[in-house]
Amino acid sequence: MGGWSSEREVSLTSGQGVVEALRGRGWSNVTAVDMDRNVASVLTAIRPDVVFNALHGTPGEDGTVQGMLDLMQIPYTHSGLETSVIAIDKELTKMVLVPGGIRMPKGKVVESDTLYDGDPMARPYVLKPVNEGSSVGVAIVTNDSNYGNPIGRDVEGPWKHFDHLLAEPFIKGHELTVAVIGGEALCVTELKPKVGFYDYDSKYTDGLTEHVCPAEVPDNIAKAMMDMAARAHKLLGCKGASRSDFRWDEEQGEEGIYLLEVNTQPGMTPLSLVPEQARQRGIEYGELVERLIAEALD
Ligand code: DAL
Ligand code: MG
Repeated sequence: MGGWSSEREVSLTSGQGVVEALRGRGWSNVTAVDMDRNVASVLTAIRPDVVFNALHGTPGEDGTVQGMLDLMQIPYTHSGLETSVIAIDKELTKMVLVPGGIRMPKGKVVESDTLYDGDPMARPYVLKPVNEGSSVGVAIVTNDSNYGNPIGRDVEGPWKHFDHLLAEPFIKGHELTVAVIGGEALCVTELKPKVGFYDYDSKYTDGLTEHVCPAEVPDNIAKAMMDMAARAHKLLGCKGASRSDFRWDEEQGEEGIYLLEVNTQPGMTPLSLVPEQARQRGIEYGELVERLIAEALD
């Protein structure tokens, strides 16, 4: 848990939840490790039977930690090296999923400097870092956005902090998500933030977002989304839990379902969506944690 990504605090909360759940279920030999650059020495000293990976972002979600654990021959939860390398990168993910028949917004990666010359595509569009999580650095550029023209000049925004950004057309409508565990899609949750979009604050502040689980969408839409999430999990070779995030433009029916990304280290905080969907399906948090460990050891 922990580490040094922009999602460090989220990861500490995920990790604490996992540790408490295991101890609560009688696991006595659980060691919480707040990862720093000495992690390999720490693991050499502990020699764990299994690592529960509660890291989010780089380097715990991008294949680096997975490669280290592979070398050390320590089993770990969630996806392996190759899957992690691809799934952390929203553009690489498209290269695997779109030819596999999954609808995703047609985006383009732009150098942040070029944003000073003007919009990279027609508004409204979304700018996001290719490899961040929890909506860190995401901006929605609408016709009303006060970014001026050229956009970005003297305006605080993600272009100040990232060399490259992914620009994608904004899909109007609904924000939804589907967890996949053991290859099976659990259900669909709709996220209804009270203010703005489902950004970092809306994700992690209690009361700022209504979670409708299961989502009140037509059966064919829920089924299509769950099929897409299960298929994405399989195409990417995910292990353990993944969570696919969607937008749905209801005016276009099934054709309006767009998969945005697949999270291979989905949050395990009290407000997180994978544990919530698991609970909805009768799997309590502690049981979910044990299932992920069992799969890692399988
Ligand atoms: N990146 C966060 C932790 C999530 O996907 O839940
Ligand atoms: Mg994400």
